[in-house]
Amino acid sequence: MENGKEVALDGNRTNQKGTLLPVSMPKKKGTFLERLLQLLTLFLGFCFIFSVVSVYMIRHYGANNSLVANLYPSLQPCADENPSLDRWIKPPSNLLHSMSDQELFWRATMAPRIKKYPFDRVPKIAFMFLTKGPMPLAPLWERFFKGHDGFYSIYVHSLPSFQADYPKTSVFYRRQVPSQMTEWGEISLCDAEKRLLSNALLDINNEWFVLLSESCIPLYNFSLVYKYISKSRHSFVSVFDDPGPDGRGRYNSRMAPEVNITEWQKGSQWFEVNRKLAISIVADTKFYAKFAEFCRQPCYGDEHYIPTMLTIQAADQLANRSITWVDWSKRGEAHPATFGAADVTEQLMKGFLENQNCTYNDEPSSICYLFARKFTPPTLEPLLLLAPKYLGY
Ligand SMILES: *[C@@H]1O[C@H](CO)[C@@H](O)[C@H](O)[C@H]1NC(C)=O
Ligand SMILES: *[C@@H]1O[C@H](CO)[C@@H](O)[C@H](O)[C@H]1NC(C)=O
Ligand SMILES: *[C@@H]1O[C@H](CO)[C@@H](O)[C@H](O)[C@H]1NC(C)=O
Ligand SMILES: *[C@@H]1O[C@H](CO)[C@@H](O)[C@H](O)[C@H]1NC(C)=O
Repeated sequence: MENGKEVALDGNRTNQKGTLLPVSMPKKKGTFLERLLQLLTLFLGFCFIFSVVSVYMIRHYGANNSLVANLYPSLQPCADENPSLDRWIKPPSNLLHSMSDQELFWRATMAPRIKKYPFDRVPKIAFMFLTKGPMPLAPLWERFFKGHDGFYSIYVHSLPSFQADYPKTSVFYRRQVPSQMTEWGEISLCDAEKRLLSNALLDINNEWFVLLSESCIPLYNFSLVYKYISKSRHSFVSVFDDPGPDGRGRYNSRMAPEVNITEWQKGSQWFEVNRKLAISIVADTKFYAKFAEFCRQPCYGDEHYIPTMLTIQAADQLANRSITWVDWSKRGEAHPATFGAADVTEQLMKGFLENQNCTYNDEPSSICYLFARKFTPPTLEPLLLLAPKYLGY
C-alpha cells in the first residue's frame, strides 16, 4: 500500500528499491508473459478484496444479507422476505429439518412471556406417534380426524430406516419428524419423546401434546376427545409410588439430592401434557442427567423419568392418571396384553365404555380413558366395523 501511495504522488512508478515496476516498462519491451502476470496480479488483488468484504458482510449482517445470498435469492426461505408476525405463528411448512437434538431442544423451549396472543389462536392437540415403522391402524385414525382440520397436528417418530409413503390425502402425509434409533426401556426412548415434543412445540398453536403408539386406538369421537383434554384443569400423566421392587426398588441413591427416594415415581409412558409442561420436559437437563446415568436396566427411564420429574416440578398440575387404557390384568408380565382380531368383539367395545370411574376436574367421571392399546394390525378390519356403533366415528 505504501508503494502505491508513492507511485501516485511522484509519478515515478518506482518501488522503494528503485527498480522499475512492470507498469513503467516501455510498451514495446512488455512481453505477453509480463502482461499476463500483471492481469493475474490485478485479478488476485480483486479476489482478495472481494473475499475480505464478503467475510466482513457475513459477520456483520449474517449470511442472508451477503452478496452470496443476493446472487442466489431462490435459496432464501419466503419468511425472510416478509418479516411479519406470520413468520412466528405459521407452523413450519416442512417437518424435515437439519437441526441436531441440541439445536432443536434449544429452539423448542423458546416461549413468549406475554400470555395473551396477538392473533386469533385456535389451540390444537398434537398427536405424537412413537412408532417402529408403519401405522397399520392408520385408516381408523383417518376416520377419527376427518372433518377436524385446524384442531390437531400429527407427528410421527419412527425408526430412522423406515421410509413412509402415505398418499397426499392421508393425515400422516409428510408428518414424519427427523428420528434416531431408540430402544425399549432405554433413555433413548425419552430422547425420542423429547424430539417429538420439540418438533410439536415449533408450532405455536399446539397447546396439548399426547404421546401414542401405532397400536393405539381412540375410544371416542374427536369432538369429545378435544373437549375432554382442552377443558381439563390437569395434565394426564400417570404417576404412582410403587414400594415394590419394580418401583422404589429401581431407585439408585446416587440420584440424590436431585431425586430422593420419597420423590421417586413410576407411571405409564403414554402421557398428555400442556404446552407449559411440554417445555419444561424438553428444557430439563438436571434430572435427565441423573436418569441417563443411574436409571439403567432393570430401571426403565420411560417409566420413571417424566413421572418423577413432573411430580417434583409441578405435582399440582397433574391428574396422576393416564388417558390411555391398557390391559394389565395378566399379572406378572413385563408387557400388557395384546389384542388380536378375534379379541375385538362387541363385548370388548362395550367394556371400554362401561365401568369407568375416575376423577375429572375434581368431580367423579365415567369417562376416564380416551385411547386404548395394544392393538395388532389384524384388528383393523373388525375395528373399522365396530367403531361407528361403539366409538362414535
Ligand atoms: C361425539 O360423541 C359424544 C358422546 O359419545 C356425542 O354426544 C356427540 O354427539 C358426538 N359428536 C359428534 C360430532 O359426533
Ligand atoms: C432430599 O434429600 C436431601 C438430603 O437428604 C434434603 O436436603 C432435601 O431437602 C430433600 N428434598 C426433598 C424435596 O425432600
Ligand atoms: C396428584 O398428586 C399430587 C401429589 O403427588 C397432588 O399434589 C395432586 O393434587 C394430585 N392431582 C390430583 C388431580 O389429585
Ligand atoms: C366410583 O368410585 C368411587 C370411589 O371409589 C365410589 O364412591 C363411586 O360410587 C364409584 N362410582 C361408580 C359409578 O361406580
